[in-house]
Amino acid sequence: ERPEEESHFLLILGPPGGGKGTISKKMLKDFSSFHHVSTGDLLRQHVRQRTALGIKAKGYMDSGELVPDNLMIDLVMEDATPYLEAGQSLLLDGFPRTIEQAMALEKVTHIDVVVNLDVPTDTIVERLADRWIHPASGRVYSYSYNPPKVVGKDDITGEDLVQRDDDKPEAIRKRLESYANITAPLVKYYEDKGLAKTFSGTKSDIIYPQVKKFLESTHFFS
Ligand code: AP5
Repeated sequence: ERPEEESHFLLILGPPGGGKGTISKKMLKDFSSFHHVSTGDLLRQHVRQRTALGIKAKGYMDSGELVPDNLMIDLVMEDATPYLEAGQSLLLDGFPRTIEQAMALEKVTHIDVVVNLDVPTDTIVERLADRWIHPASGRVYSYSYNPPKVVGKDDITGEDLVQRDDDKPEAIRKRLESYANITAPLVKYYEDKGLAKTFSGTKSDIIYPQVKKFLESTHFFS
């Protein structure tokens, strides 16, 4: 069943630390009708709340492995179904990451556009080492890109910033490996369907205006 014709489905793909979260937030400011589903943020929320899923997922996440497909498909369907049923447009960030997840998605919806971010590995490693987050809200800071107003504190709550457990060197290496072996082939899969457009570079501030221009040029956003 396809959802209402006026709802649109956008995916953002890219390596760990490639700026998916950063670019998604910029997109939501310009295309405010979209509901953002970030599987990383959803999982981290489950981990914090110590749900059954959070407990199962934590070990995979901390070591930089992908969480098993069945858990991820259930998680996304649970979060996205009310929006799909209401005919709302969705921006999916971090899903699908395997061919199996892509197939599951195709059973419930159509995909309009895939934005693929292509960022060099050296840039990724530097960024992740410099990333600090406010765990309760998921707000992301970096001392070289968007530093907090007060060192080590969240701008809104003043609470402590921490590093993500999976931003340690060994986990970063594993995440890059899973990306290259398992997720990167999805880019070709969507390119073959004529859906993917790749944006290369090292700076989200330069990449984003190109993404925006591209989205505005598609009939979905005009
Ligand atoms: P997830 O949270 O999706 O992690 P990820 O893909 O590794 O991506 P990141 O969140 O690290 O980075 P990002 O691309 O959003 O970059 P950001 O904008 O923060 O997933 C975590 C884990 O959950 C996975 O490892 C896996 O275990 C599991 N998981 C999730 N989805 C799954 C699925 N579908 N299937 C199976 N398992 C799944 O930017 C990075 C940093 O760079 C930030 O500090 C930012 O401030 C900084 N930055 C951004 N732009 C710039 C710039 N222009 N200049 C300088 N710094 C910049």
